[in-house]
Amino acid sequence: MPGGVREVKADAAGPTFEQISEFVPGRGTASLPRILATDDRPEVLRLVDRTLGKRYRCEFASSVAEARERLARDVFELALCDIQMPGESGLVLVEEIAKRYPDTAIVLVTGVDDPEIAERAFEVGAQGYLVKPFWPGQLLITTMNALRQRQLEMAEKARSRILLESAEKRAEHFRDELALAQQQAIEELRSSRQETVERLARAIEMHDAETGRHVNRMASIAALLGRLLGLASERVLLLRAAAPMHDVGKIATSDGILRKEGPLTLDEREEMQRHTTVGHQILADSGSELLRMAAAIALTHHEHWDGSGYPTGLCGEDIPLEGRIVAIADVFDALLSDRCYRPAMPVSEAMQIIEEGRGAHFEPRIADLLLKNLDEALTLRA
Ligand SMILES: [Fe+2]
Ligand SMILES: [Fe+2]
Repeated sequence: MPGGVREVKADAAGPTFEQISEFVPGRGTASLPRILATDDRPEVLRLVDRTLGKRYRCEFASSVAEARERLARDVFELALCDIQMPGESGLVLVEEIAKRYPDTAIVLVTGVDDPEIAERAFEVGAQGYLVKPFWPGQLLITTMNALRQRQLEMAEKARSRILLESAEKRAEHFRDELALAQQQAIEELRSSRQETVERLARAIEMHDAETGRHVNRMASIAALLGRLLGLASERVLLLRAAAPMHDVGKIATSDGILRKEGPLTLDEREEMQRHTTVGHQILADSGSELLRMAAAIALTHHEHWDGSGYPTGLCGEDIPLEGRIVAIADVFDALLSDRCYRPAMPVSEAMQIIEEGRGAHFEPRIADLLLKNLDEALTLRA
């Protein structure tokens, strides 16, 4: 028999537990709320069956152990538990139900009206409390109230769950939107940063005889050298963006000097060389890493590895790496470009100048990298 109902002797006053249990499935009450009544006294269980059997699907247990088995097998909407039973106390069962089956309503049944038990029942979350002997009407209304309260509590739980889920969904949606907005802001900043640099380079181009194509080509070659030197990709990107600003200080150099075809006088040379410090003044003290790198490049791209450069005569690794890289990329591209005072050089001649400058003007390691990767550098100029 499903449900494994214990064997109980027939009672002359009514049906046995078996008869009751056999009777349950035949009532066509499968969709009715399920009630588990636990009591060691058969007459109480019969009263429960008589009172609640027509409205609910009742099942019966005569001990805590049996009730525990039933609960493990089926879902009950309500548990009617007697407190005073031989063996384990019904209160243990009630506490267990409250903990393990929080969706099961509990009605406590006691033979002694003890406020302490009533308080304990309230504490564990029992929805009803009956003192024996009770009338069928009392049992019915307590059961109905307990089930109604359970329904309300479950509806409230479901409502909270839905609210929580929708709050979580909204938070997730908000997080996605925020991440997207941040990404867009970063992209916008990147593109406006790049545009600012390009416009600055264009301003220099309008003033200087050097073309915008030169600053772009030398910046690409500088980035190639940075990559070949093993710099981190973010630093290579900064170098690519900062290099076009290397001659920004020429904005303060007079047109006559910039466009002079013959050799410069000493004063003119000094004025021309000032573009390094002026460029540094324009770009220095920025909170932007890009502009700080550009400032260092502007100041040091005419320093020589052997200390014979300007404006400070720094040598070796005292010259910032980006300054050393731009120094060679700038000269390499300038040699291969037409200038107002000379035509573009053939590649072989330019390479000879780079080789001659190895260890004097240029850091040997970087000069070697350029010479070894000449084809790639020339592709960038195409
Ligand atoms: Fe320069
Ligand atoms: Fe240049």
